[in-house]
Amino acid sequence: MTRYQLQKKEYIQKMFAGISQRYDFLNSFLSLGRDRYWRGFAASKLPPGLILDVCSGTGDVAIEVSNKSDVIATDFCREMLQLCTGKLNDRDICNVSCVQSDAENLSFKDETFNGAIVAFGIRNVADIKKSLSEMSRVVKKGGKVVILEFSQPRNPVFKSVYFFYFQKILPVIGAVISKKKGAYSYLPSSVMAFPERSKFIEIMRESGIKEIYLYDLTFGIATVYAGCKS
Ligand SMILES: C[S@@+](CC[C@H](N)C(=O)[O-])C[C@H]1O[C@@H](n2cnc3c(N)ncnc32)[C@H](O)[C@@H]1O
Repeated sequence: MTRYQLQKKEYIQKMFAGISQRYDFLNSFLSLGRDRYWRGFAASKLPPGLILDVCSGTGDVAIEVSNKSDVIATDFCREMLQLCTGKLNDRDICNVSCVQSDAENLSFKDETFNGAIVAFGIRNVADIKKSLSEMSRVVKKGGKVVILEFSQPRNPVFKSVYFFYFQKILPVIGAVISKKKGAYSYLPSSVMAFPERSKFIEIMRESGIKEIYLYDLTFGIATVYAGCKS
């Protein structure tokens, strides 16, 4: 791992620890409630059986998936996982277990899960290909790998309006509410730096994932990539 990757990992871990208390509120506030629909759509692409939720954060995907499957929710940020555990306890959800684990070095045996999902997490990892390869490794042959991530909208008119909100307004609201200046400026810059759709599909293929379908949601603000382990 390069020095830059190590620095990014440390920065991300601290950043999410710092905003963890306001994370859920800001998520739905800044996305005007669409985040719930996006996660539900992504979760609907998973098969039944044991599911791994990578970069689970406060566990919203894990909770969604727990309606039909047993789930292991992982994240490397203890503060986020503590909030996830609290939500599971409050809702009496017993089929989700939380495990602190690095997405780039998952602490599970090969071919353990029927499916793996990562929502708004892959953009934050230091090495995208390593994390996708890890998800592919722990999924059974023929199992599903599903990724939900922000994208750049395709329509140029919508894109310019959206980017004005995303780059100018959202960071200000995020900073005021979370009381952390950098976190919500990092969000738009990380989306801009994230590989464009066809490039990301190429990285998925190189990581052992095939038969990849892409679904643009809400004018292409978010995209779901669903593939199979080859
Ligand atoms: C934007 S949040 C997404 C949380 C959740 N999946 C959701 O849909 O709201 C990204 C999460 O990825 C986690 N994360 C980032 N890099 C990670 C890594 N290398 N290993 C494990 N978790 C990581 C962060 O701690 C954070 O909780």
